[in-house]
Amino acid sequence: MTQAWPYPHIVAHRGGGSLAPENTLAAIDVGARHGHTMIEFDAKLAQDGQIFLLHDDTLDRTSNGWGVAGELSWDKLAQLDAGNWYSAAFKGERLPLLAEVAQRCRQHGMMANIEIKPTRGADEETGRAVAQAARLLWQGQTDPLLSSFSVGALAAAQAAVPELPRGLLLERWRDDWRALTEQLGCVSLHIAHQALTAERVQALKQAGLRILAYTVNRPERARQLLDWGVDCICTDRIDLIGADF
Ligand code: G3P
Ligand code: MG
Repeated sequence: MTQAWPYPHIVAHRGGGSLAPENTLAAIDVGARHGHTMIEFDAKLAQDGQIFLLHDDTLDRTSNGWGVAGELSWDKLAQLDAGNWYSAAFKGERLPLLAEVAQRCRQHGMMANIEIKPTRGADEETGRAVAQAARLLWQGQTDPLLSSFSVGALAAAQAAVPELPRGLLLERWRDDWRALTEQLGCVSLHIAHQALTAERVQALKQAGLRILAYTVNRPERARQLLDWGVDCICTDRIDLIGADF
């Protein structure tokens, strides 16, 4: 890691949490309007190597397209509507390129947690490409924190751009967390909050890891986790769990 842990306690999930269509520029604007200073979002590759934001493997849930997004080239993806599924007020919102997201974060002075979300089978390629692009796009800004459920993607990011901080994402507790995070040179563990206990938080902290808990939507639970020593709360309720929580 090239700098001390610079990230705030609260991170807006998918840009604007539940208040905007996830992983869009409009969501980032909503996050900023609510005073948030850090966002999380999901990045993957188009068929032609362009990096854009989408959570699912397929387009069906969060756009007017269908099928596996990573099998389409950017010129096709760029035509889709990524806002109307959420509400007519966001009709016309597009899938954003990572480059556009970096620019928007810069405009708002927001930090970023880039979740590398490879299309099935594209783990290494995606990890490498996202890390290399992030290094260039976030120049002069706080380093973006890279994270992934994919060990292959994180290993490729580590090999390509070792200086960018990495976090291992886990859906549930794993007893080999120490070996995995050491092997990947991770600064943080990002884990579903249901998997955390006060004892586990202590063990992670004693190992020198920072902890991000997702997706925490109840203020009482967010308070408990912060009291235990969790460093970051990733939330959909960006209205209830504000930047100054
Ligand atoms: O990075 C935290 C969280 O976003 C991981 O889960 O499925 O919302 O991407 P998911
Ligand atoms: Mg995510």
